[in-house]
Amino acid sequence: MLELRDVNFTIQKGEESVNLLDRINLKVPAGHFMAIVGPSGCGKSTLLKLIAGINVESEGTIHWQGRNLSTEGDLEPAEIGYVPQFSIAYDHLTVEESVESAVRLRVKTRRRSEFHDLVDRVLMQTGLDALRNRPVKVLSGGQKRRLSLAMELVTDPVLLLADEVTSGLDPKSEREIVKLLYELSRKHSRIVVNVTHSLANLELYDSVLVLHEGRVAYHGQPRALDHYFSVDEAEEVYPRLAKRDAEDWRASWEKHRGDYYEALESAAKATAAETGAAGDGIPLDQAAAAATPGAVAQFFALLFRRCRIFARDGGQLFLQIAILLGFPVLVILFALDGVGEVRRLSEAVPTTVEEFQLEKEIVEHNLNLGGLVSGLVMFQVILLTLMGSNNSAREIAGERLIFEKEKLGGVRPATYLASKVAFLGGLVFVQSFWMAVFVQKICHIPTQSFVPQLALLFLVNAAMTSICLGISSMAKTADQASLLSVYLVGFQLPLSGAVLALPKVAGWLTRPFISAYWSWSGAMNSLEPGFRNAVDKVTETWLAPVPLCFAVLILHLAAGLFVAWIGVKKSRWE
Ligand SMILES: Nc1ncnc2c1ncn2[C@@H]1O[C@H](COP(=O)(O)OP(=O)(O)OP(=O)(O)O)[C@@H](O)[C@H]1O
Ligand SMILES: [Mg+2]
Repeated sequence: MLELRDVNFTIQKGEESVNLLDRINLKVPAGHFMAIVGPSGCGKSTLLKLIAGINVESEGTIHWQGRNLSTEGDLEPAEIGYVPQFSIAYDHLTVEESVESAVRLRVKTRRRSEFHDLVDRVLMQTGLDALRNRPVKVLSGGQKRRLSLAMELVTDPVLLLADEVTSGLDPKSEREIVKLLYELSRKHSRIVVNVTHSLANLELYDSVLVLHEGRVAYHGQPRALDHYFSVDEAEEVYPRLAKRDAEDWRASWEKHRGDYYEALESAAKATAAETGAAGDGIPLDQAAAAATPGAVAQFFALLFRRCRIFARDGGQLFLQIAILLGFPVLVILFALDGVGEVRRLSEAVPTTVEEFQLEKEIVEHNLNLGGLVSGLVMFQVILLTLMGSNNSAREIAGERLIFEKEKLGGVRPATYLASKVAFLGGLVFVQSFWMAVFVQKICHIPTQSFVPQLALLFLVNAAMTSICLGISSMAKTADQASLLSVYLVGFQLPLSGAVLALPKVAGWLTRPFISAYWSWSGAMNSLEPGFRNAVDKVTETWLAPVPLCFAVLILHLAAGLFVAWIGVKKSRWE
């Protein structure tokens, strides 16, 4: 039995607190199929989220099998299936891959055959078997909703909550889905709650709850609905509701409520006695829910899925390859005129008089060359920060709702974040390595050792990727995250001090936060001494010691990850 007792859900609107749900009382026995209906904005989704544990009640209590969910612990993730109003599948996967991914994340299977049997069973159950190889992108609205249902059925939940899974469908598809939900409620004493504003097919439900401005106006058998509202057909209920105050409706229903629930409870007890079930009608052998897989299994499932989506997303793949190959070429293009001189200089070891003469010439060139090497490295650094923001700005914000849904289904935030770090780490490594090696091969940047230079380029890309991942985890939308990340990159060049020295105080204040500065400055300090001096002559900006540069970049990397960690733990359904 699911029971809500005097539940309020209040939000703060400025000074005022508004009850989105007002003194909700209801009981739903095992094996029951219930509709929540009501005009748009009456609070249906809010009520469903409250039952799912996404919204937390401001007052009152919710009970499951007699257990108070707020004090005695929530339902296990596998016990609840929540099908939200939005699609929970990735466009670039197929129907079968989406269900497989749901199984990998939510159900511990022991053998491969068990895994495949489960996927097959769920696809058959939802009538998606024939569409298993079809990409989600091309599914119709009804097929997408079936898929969302299928992905929730993998755990065989005892409580299945569906939000508008029939909205926008033609009458035939709508009826098919309501029938499917009905059949699901006949199995394993499962409670199925379907939120809808459609008043068609009501006869398939065991009960209908009518919500009006956050209050219960009626809850009972569908055939008694017309009589209760004194209308000829269900479609007239909404206009009728509007004729009286919501509080009036609530007060009227309160008078009838006791009788209805009394009858409901005695019927449930009778069924339980017949089927030999536990006190509230749920057979004891159904009590065990599917076990959630361990963190490692979830990590690989998430990483595998991310790589697959990356490989399938033509646009993203093209952009990544274009950036990977194009940016290093861009650096070289800009430095082309001076490259010969840098190379000549870094290779020349003066031994003869002529060569000493050459060296003198070189010293004369030093100023120009110092500027050139500094600019070359700064260009590398800036393009790598741009890659970093492109890597991760949308990474979490772009799939936030799906992630929230998966978190509710038992995906651990730390595991999710770890899968992102692994995926992005791979990208960062390839980008930085190629940038450093390619530019070095052609330009021969006169560095004392290539390794620290490579590490500094890797770290600036990693730090920016990590900071933008933090932004992505905190942002409300993917666009907001992108915009903030672009601003952050935009500030790197002017505030780095590599082009123009900043006023002293401004420099000291901003420098700690500018990753590009630390990478550039570290690279300048690890140049061959002659070049190091040349750079010193062309810039007035203080060049930090190499170990300090490493330390600050690692700190930036860690700070980004910390913010991302806080962000993924937050609940963000809006
Ligand atoms: N977190 C929130 N903060 C502020 N207002 C909210 C919040 N959640 C819901 N609302 C408001 O509460 C009301 C009920 O919203 P809800 O989404 O539950 O309606 P609904 O009955 O599901 O509507 P629809 O049929 O259009 O989906 C709406 O006016 C909505 O704007
Ligand atoms: Mg809704």
